[in-house]
Amino acid sequence: MFASFQRTLKFLHMKVNLILRSWSLLTGLLIGHSGFTLTAQETKAAYRDATQPLETRVEDLLSRLTLEEKISLLHADSKFTTAAIPRLGIPRRWLDDGPHGVREDIGPDTWQSAGRTDDFSTAMPSGICLAATWNPDLGFKEGEAIGQEARWRGKDIMLGPGVNILRTPLCGRNFEYLGEDPFLSGVMCSGYIRGEQSLDISSCVKHFALNNQEYQRGTINVEVDERALREIYLPAFKAAVQAGSVWSVMGAYNQLRGQHCCHNDYLLNRILKEEWGFQGLVMSDWDGTHDTHQAALNGLDLEMGTETNYANFYLAQPYLNGLKSGEFPMTGLDEKVRRNLRVMIATHVLDANRKPGSFNTAAHQSVARQVAEEGVVLLKNENHALPLDPAKIASIAVIGENAIRLHAHGGDSSGIKAFYEVTPLQGLVNRAGKAVNITFSEGYQKDGSADLAARAVSAAKAADVVIYIGGLNHDKGFDCEGADRKDLKLPYGQDELIQKIAAANPRTIVVLEGMMVEMDAWLDQVPAVLQAWYPGMEGGNALARVLFGDVNPSGKLPATFPKKLSDSPAHALGNYPGANGTVTYAEGLLVGYRWFDTKHIEPLFPFGHGLSYTAFAYSNLKLTPTGTGVTAEFEIRNSGQVPGAEVAQLYVHPVKPGVLRPEKELKGFKKVFLKPGERQTVSLPLPKAAFAYYSPERKSWVAEQGAYKILVGGSSRELPLQGEFQWAETSLVK
Ligand code: BGC
Repeated sequence: MFASFQRTLKFLHMKVNLILRSWSLLTGLLIGHSGFTLTAQETKAAYRDATQPLETRVEDLLSRLTLEEKISLLHADSKFTTAAIPRLGIPRRWLDDGPHGVREDIGPDTWQSAGRTDDFSTAMPSGICLAATWNPDLGFKEGEAIGQEARWRGKDIMLGPGVNILRTPLCGRNFEYLGEDPFLSGVMCSGYIRGEQSLDISSCVKHFALNNQEYQRGTINVEVDERALREIYLPAFKAAVQAGSVWSVMGAYNQLRGQHCCHNDYLLNRILKEEWGFQGLVMSDWDGTHDTHQAALNGLDLEMGTETNYANFYLAQPYLNGLKSGEFPMTGLDEKVRRNLRVMIATHVLDANRKPGSFNTAAHQSVARQVAEEGVVLLKNENHALPLDPAKIASIAVIGENAIRLHAHGGDSSGIKAFYEVTPLQGLVNRAGKAVNITFSEGYQKDGSADLAARAVSAAKAADVVIYIGGLNHDKGFDCEGADRKDLKLPYGQDELIQKIAAANPRTIVVLEGMMVEMDAWLDQVPAVLQAWYPGMEGGNALARVLFGDVNPSGKLPATFPKKLSDSPAHALGNYPGANGTVTYAEGLLVGYRWFDTKHIEPLFPFGHGLSYTAFAYSNLKLTPTGTGVTAEFEIRNSGQVPGAEVAQLYVHPVKPGVLRPEKELKGFKKVFLKPGERQTVSLPLPKAAFAYYSPERKSWVAEQGAYKILVGGSSRELPLQGEFQWAETSLVK
């Protein structure tokens, strides 16, 4: 009752807001879109003329700015804005987090909520869930929906997606990122960026680079060899730049080889701008700038922060002083300003016809649900424990705190003030509450209670089926910014609780929210396990639809689930969290499945794993050389009884490499939807780059001559198709 009253209030508020927004857009058009009154000269200036080429507009506007105005564009003037220049009709630029929706407004000079009532938004599932869909079209749709809401809220730059590679399962922000594989992360992030930027918004891919742990994130120095840097940690960023055409990049808090990433000459000037041709702006993470000289010269274009004395920012008065004294060249200043203006003009900040966006539409909610439905991974399903048939079940005991816990607002900067959030319990009641008697017991709490556990066990005994919904949450120390997890264990005594529940009722389905955990304590005792990540505001409905078979699960793991922490590379080698301020990535290239495969370590669940309610048969692999690469063609057939989707994965295995190579690497994938009995031919292009490694000596990618196995299937450890391809000679690859 109260919830529906609350929803009605929010709805009315949105309507009033809609009328006000339409009025301000109309008056904006009459005055000049940003609301400033311009002189006749400026109204006619080339930079205001949307028919002029981008660079003409940029140079024209640059030529009109005073030194002080230029400086004002290079640093924050509140937590999430930069200053307006009313004289030229340049509005305040609004930045916002990212990446799971449009964060609530705060500040301007504090991290406290701004107390608005019009900043509820669609809460998408977390980044790792999006990655688990392996569906770049959904990435595009999610980016597009967030872009629309960002425009509606008047934002210019959205701080996402986050693409740092999962090096250790303990990193507190793994849930925001796209997993352990550079290729998958690159494909998924570029879809998202293209979708978001189609709404006249700049995405901001973050955190460039090597922000792979939260422990000492502001200071830790990363030592990584050049091949691992190029082959593992940079490709997703490169894809964001080259395939996604991202307009903004955020530097990371940590250091690389002794220099902070927000002003790291090698990363920003040499690689990002010179090698990759990035034309947009580099901003710092909040308070990630530490030095005026480096900020001036090493590729930083916009300084954001948490301090409130904005004139003291490194790129404010101190930079201005250095420019005036001749310490820093004016050409460097112009280059930074040019990049800021380019992003502004390219995203139509100065144009009357900028896309207005939309807010909390049914379409956005349906994208949130679809991502959750396709991102849920069915880890185990014995004896057809799932899907559940409501006609054959009289009662379900739902157990576990995550069945009723709201997650969307948590995790820190990626948290969303959700318009609403359907919990798993609510979703199950929505779906089956009329036909089935559903009971709920919490089972565990943060501070523990034997009584809760005992009540859950008797509820389990009394029911036909148990759906246990536990896992992690966004409390500090679990999946949350600013700290790492301490271990891979399920907290709050959940291991023992699941053991007891499964003993009381063998039809116990385990649903885990959050990131990966150890499961050995109870995995053999339960017939089915689902990994639901943080599934966003439609998560409860999505989960219920998967559990009851309205949706056939098609998610695949974007990261290896180890049996125990010490199996994963950074921990096996003792290279986490580092010592004396430095962490050395001694595992080099062997991150995630590259390590488990090369070292023959059995994971709990392998990279790419995910079951379905139907089955798929692979056949007829054909490899056709194209001159610049090879095309792999094969067939997939839905050989089971129900419609479903399969993610066909292609890995390349160098047979006798002359240098160290991982056992195999993902180089192509495609999600296909098939009815029972239906078959489809899949064609995956493999350019020469798919065979190449980075040679630090030659400073180039090299495709080595020799044989390569092409392996195709539905998981990194289930690859029924094999073919072989030869490169006759070694060649350099762009
Ligand atoms: C985070 C960024 C975020 C920024 C602004 C920083 O602490 O690392 O990811 O975009 O805050 O909220």
